[in-house]
Amino acid sequence: MTETRKPIVVVGSVTMDMVTRTPQIPRVGQTVIGTSFSTTPGGKGANQAVAAARLGYPVQFLGMVGDDVFGPELLENLSSAGVNTSAMITAPGSSGLAPIFLSESGQNAIVVVPGANGKVDSAYVDKHVDVIRNAGMVLCQLELPMATIDYTLALCAQFDVPVMLDPAPAAALSDPVWKQVAWFTPNETEAAFYLDDASHPETVAAALLARGLPGVVLKRGAEGAYVVASGKAGWVQPFAVNAIDTVAAGDCFNGAFAVALLEGKDPWAAARFACAASAISVTRHGAQASMPTRDDLYAFLADRGETI
Ligand code: RIB
Repeated sequence: MTETRKPIVVVGSVTMDMVTRTPQIPRVGQTVIGTSFSTTPGGKGANQAVAAARLGYPVQFLGMVGDDVFGPELLENLSSAGVNTSAMITAPGSSGLAPIFLSESGQNAIVVVPGANGKVDSAYVDKHVDVIRNAGMVLCQLELPMATIDYTLALCAQFDVPVMLDPAPAAALSDPVWKQVAWFTPNETEAAFYLDDASHPETVAAALLARGLPGVVLKRGAEGAYVVASGKAGWVQPFAVNAIDTVAAGDCFNGAFAVALLEGKDPWAAARFACAASAISVTRHGAQASMPTRDDLYAFLADRGETI
């Protein structure tokens, strides 16, 4: 059957996560004894791409891996999830790497070393301008050079392609960005970077909208999500689960939210769909490894007597 859906295009990072499990995340100057170590594919861009692809949506990735031992595994993991990697490049040097501490309570602390992600520049994006032009939606995060994000968003504005920007890790944004983004999706820590007081979602969302954004989703983990769009605002309730690994839960949300929006769900139903996907992801280990399939998601909802 011919594919008629315009793909989700992720312009983003690919990273090998180096996960150390530990009873507690060490404080500065403290040594703790860990319980296990593993390497597993991650990177906010790649995680979001895999989340959308595993839900059965066409996804193309623009980004780079290094010519080190991790590059082939990172590429293979994306393509085996169904992500189109045909425009990706293997750059000389290291792939993106992310040492992660994961505590027994499921909390995490992450350092990202960009490697090849730092080489994704405007010239590379420009070579794939047709991929951007034909996208149903473009997903960006902030693990690429900011000039590349600015350039990508300007192209999307030119072609009228909606952009979902996950401001992670939070960083200063140039003025045009606020008007080029359809959906802005910070978590609580990221929202606090942009505003003095991020404790009240209602006022945070209003302050972000005042910067020119048409749609804001405040990702609040176990509290659910607060969604504002088209003059309406409201909480989307979370699903109660036993979380064992919260790495990439926010990425799972973004990939699933994009799929649901493109399938025509209203933003609140789309966020509920995304809350279900990320609830499943936190019950599993790994970043990309934790992303649910559409069947997983429907079974999860059916168990709770819900259809979305
Ligand atoms: O959002 C989780 C991701 O952040 C991890 O997979 C890690 O690679 C970092 O980019």
